Formats: sequence, structure tokens, C-alpha cells
Amino acid sequence: MLRVGYSANLAAELLTGFPQGIELIRLPRELDHDVEIDVWLPDPYPTRNLKIVPHLRGVKLVLSLMAGTEWIPGAMGPHVTICNARGAHNVSTAEWTLSAILMMLKHFPLFLDIQRSGDWKRRFDASAEYATITGDAGMHYPPVMLEELTGKTVMLVGYGSIGKEIERMLEPFRVELIRVARTSRDNPKVHAVGELDALLPKAQVVVLILPLSPDTRWLIDARQFALMQQGTLVVNAARGPIVNTDALVEALKSARIRAALDVTDPEPLPEGHPLWKCPNLLITPHVGGSSPEFARRALQVAADELRRYMAGEPLLNVVQAAV
Ligand SMILES: NC(=O)c1ccc[n+]([C@@H]2O[C@H](COP(=O)([O-])OP(=O)(O)OC[C@H]3O[C@@H](n4cnc5c(N)ncnc54)[C@H](OP(=O)(O)O)[C@@H]3O)[C@@H](O)[C@H]2O)c1
Repeated sequence: MLRVGYSANLAAELLTGFPQGIELIRLPRELDHDVEIDVWLPDPYPTRNLKIVPHLRGVKLVLSLMAGTEWIPGAMGPHVTICNARGAHNVSTAEWTLSAILMMLKHFPLFLDIQRSGDWKRRFDASAEYATITGDAGMHYPPVMLEELTGKTVMLVGYGSIGKEIERMLEPFRVELIRVARTSRDNPKVHAVGELDALLPKAQVVVLILPLSPDTRWLIDARQFALMQQGTLVVNAARGPIVNTDALVEALKSARIRAALDVTDPEPLPEGHPLWKCPNLLITPHVGGSSPEFARRALQVAADELRRYMAGEPLLNVVQAAV
């Protein structure tokens, strides 16, 4: 019988859709003895997993409940197959991305600040914020107090499972889309990442939704910020180190660009870090995938993958094949 270890933090009723012929082993947060399992469903939080990894024996397959799996190969080594929960985060992360874009273009962080101050007349602060960040110092009458997404050029850096869901949700806004991924292809047109620098000046919104890897670390650095249009909105829904934080702080402080971040480098962002005080910035503390529907969806993806594994069928979401 296949032994499947799962985090004791997960409600057992979420595992009822798992295939027959397995033995489910609850793994507590702290392990003081070795446990033999064939398949491991790690807890969503890497630090908890790293504590129990030394006690896991016989693991052949890791079914991560997350899309980002960057900590697992180093912890488990090359002889283990690793799958992610591709698809489980699509809706929640794409909705976060749309909300972040709209919040920033509608200057909601400022309006929330105005609401808290109880000073209606501060609404004109939005005109000043608009002029500073976009560089549009022309006279507008009536005054501009928010912007529109409709018709803007949006670049998706990463056109995978979540990137495609973001595209679907952007449809009503009739934006001009520029898709960038590892490799180029047609129908629809996707550019190779090598073209990124040439394409950046065309976009008003740049969404990062790709995995962190040695190739994508600091993909967005001072050079890329310099290539962007004045006031470009950078949305990082992926992983913090894809952006060079020092360069980001500089670009925000000089009001070259604006940003919405669900992820930061470092993470958690320590108290007193310069990012907390940067202008034109919205930060959410890595919550993009965390809706009530997440666990059910992620475990469904894992259950389907497990069924394929047991049937000897090809797995769909392999991020590392065992060597
Ligand atoms: N904020 C959150 O809470 C949250 C939630 C879920 C996921 N995420 C992050 O979002 C990432 C994307 O998730 P997903 O499910 O959409 O992944 P996915 O389906 O695997 O798609 C990844 C996309 O990134 C592209 N890519 C990979 N390496 C690249 C490189 N070196 N340069 C340019 N593009 C590259 C891929 O290009 P090809 O299509 O050419 O292969 C693909 O289009 C995850 O890895 C995770 O880090 C964050």
C-alpha cells in the first residue's frame, strides 16, 4: 500500500477525494522520529517542512500544494519527483492581480488614507499624485483624480497557468496585451524573454507571474526600470527576488514607477525595511493565493496527480523529474 504523508494542519475531510489503495499518514509539525512514506504532501509553509525533512524516509514523489516549489529540490535532492499544484492558484492570484492593478490606477491607497483623515478636500491630492507619477503636468479640467485601465498596454511576464487566467480576467478592459515567456510562439503571440528589454518601453502595466529560478532572479533590475515609461505600474504576483529590491526602492523613491507587490525580497519584509515607506507602492503580505477555496482546489490537483502516479500514467505538473 502506498504511504502518503500529509501535514496534520490540513483538515482530513479535504483528503476524502484521494484514490483508494493508499495509507494516509498524518505528519505533525514537529517530528522526533523517522517516518517511512512514499509520497509527501508538504505543508504550504516551507519553514515547517524543512524541520521535518530530515525524518522523512523513502519519499519518491512530492506533491506540493503550491505553485512555487523553489525550496523543495534543495531539501529533497535529485532522486525525488516533484510536482506543483499548477492551476490551484489561478483564480485567486489572477483576481489579486486585477484588484492590485485597479487599486493603483484608481489611486485607492491614497483615497483610503484620505478616508482615515476625514478630510474630503484632500481629494485634490489625487490630481497631484497623478501628475507626479505619470509626468502629465498638463492642465486638466475637470481635474484628473483617477485613471483608466481600459485601453492601456499590459505586459504579462510569464504566460503560464496564472498568466492565462489574468488574460481572461483582463478581457473586458480591452487592453493591449504583450505576452512574454521563456520561449516565443504564435497564436496567440508570445515573445521570448530575450525580447523583454526591447518590449518594456511599450507597456504601462508590467505583471510578473513567472517562477523564481537562477534565470529569473533580478530579471527586473535598475536597467529595466530605466527602460519603462514614466509611471509604469509594476505588479509582482510571483516571487520577490525576481525584482532587485534596492533598484525597486530607488525607482519608487524617485517616482519613476509605481508598484503593487504581493511578494517581496526579503520575505517576511522586516519592520523598518525601506520598502514599507516607499511612495506609490501597495504591499500585501504574500496572500495572493490564500482564498477559502485554495485548499480544496490544491488537494484536488494533488489527488488527480496521485491517481495518475498509481496508474503509471505521465504526471502533469512535474517541476523536477527524479534522476
Ligand atoms: N502570489 C502568490 O501567492 C502566488 C500564487 C501562485 C503562484 N505564484 C507564483 O507564480 C508563478 C507562476 O505560476 P503559474 O502557475 O502560472 O506557473 P506556470 O504555469 O508554470 O507558468 C510559468 C510561466 O513562466 C514562464 N517562465 C518560466 N521561466 C521563465 C524565464 N526564465 N523567463 C521568462 N518566463 C519564464 C513560463 O514560460 P513558458 O510558457 O515558455 O514555459 C510560463 O509561461 C509561480 O511559479 C509562483 O512563483 C504566486
